[in-house]
Amino acid sequence: MEVRKDISEIKLTIRKITEIAKAKNNCIRFDIGQPDFDTPQHIKDATNKALMDGKTGYGPVRGVDELRIAIAEYESQKDGLDFDESNIIVTTGGMHALFSVCLAFLEKGDEVIIPDPYWAAYNLIIKSVGGVPVPVHYVDDSKLLIEELERAITSKTKFIFVNSPSNPTGEILIDEDLKKIADLAEEKDIIIISDEVYERMLFGEHKFSSIAKYAPKRTLRINSTSKTYAMTGWRIGWLTGDKDLIIQIAKCIRATIACVTNFIQYGAVAALNGPQDEAMNMKKEYEKRYVAFKERVDKIGWTYLTPKGTFYMFVDTKEDSWPFCLKMIEEIGVSSVPGAAFGDFGKTYARFCYGSVSVDKINEAFDRIEKWLKK
Ligand SMILES: Cc1ncc(COP(=O)(O)O)c(C=O)c1O
Repeated sequence: MEVRKDISEIKLTIRKITEIAKAKNNCIRFDIGQPDFDTPQHIKDATNKALMDGKTGYGPVRGVDELRIAIAEYESQKDGLDFDESNIIVTTGGMHALFSVCLAFLEKGDEVIIPDPYWAAYNLIIKSVGGVPVPVHYVDDSKLLIEELERAITSKTKFIFVNSPSNPTGEILIDEDLKKIADLAEEKDIIIISDEVYERMLFGEHKFSSIAKYAPKRTLRINSTSKTYAMTGWRIGWLTGDKDLIIQIAKCIRATIACVTNFIQYGAVAALNGPQDEAMNMKKEYEKRYVAFKERVDKIGWTYLTPKGTFYMFVDTKEDSWPFCLKMIEEIGVSSVPGAAFGDFGKTYARFCYGSVSVDKINEAFDRIEKWLKK
């Protein structure tokens, strides 16, 4: 029996690294893309209360009202855009929001422009519904970016994905670029998918800006509680967009999960409406880790795309990424994800995530790396 070709051809490459790193004794794990913090207590308490109060049946397809109202208020604060519950769908993580929009819009062979380097799951999601990912390097120089995008657009282009701040680089797109992408999408009648899951993880003075403010009607925003509130395992995310599109996409929620788990949605309400100090403290800790990490990478002389936030660093080791990353795990027990898993641009890069590696462990890892490179 054969599964669809689109599915059988998908290779879950990052999982391979995870398995090898897990099996290696005393491995310092920069391959894991999630925080080592626990979810704040008030979020757990609100979830427990909802569970005890009997919020255990099916909920509304688009999510419980309390959460959609909280999300609409949250999204409306960002760029002066005005949303209400009719603009929101609650999903099983940001990933399910991405999957749902692809399922709703992509016909077989439709093309989706994604940034190169890209979060590897974009490939997986787009291909799993028969779409074709078209990676484009969203370079810093805005003139080049538009030229590259124009070259990549065809009559089959359905979406342009924007991921700022980015996984794997932590880079952000400046307003000038966001506006140019929005204008181009408008001119060519393309929908923008703005993946904003790292928007609250910016360092120092860097400010988040959403492309939605330049193309409010044609932008669908993806977000989730996963990274900001250390809730990766909860699987709560959402989609914000034009209400006529939202009504259509909601059918894909019905077709895939019926609704997001009822009682955990009350935890997400507490996350958005409750105290933000723990989320802020986590961010401060990531920034400390970033400073420690950067200092050690600079000492080695490796170059990198300078992150403005997140907990990733995309480092050019100047080596073929798969053999390099595999050797680094085997020989010194330091794991990272080969840059090639994020597209062609990253062939000689490695993605290090310090979301679950303390400053002390970062230093220990680099002591090992320095010794290893000297050999
Ligand atoms: C760029 C990007 N978008 C979306 C997600 C999805 O996150 P989740 O499904 O946990 O909300 C991730 C997770 O790693 C990510 O890196």
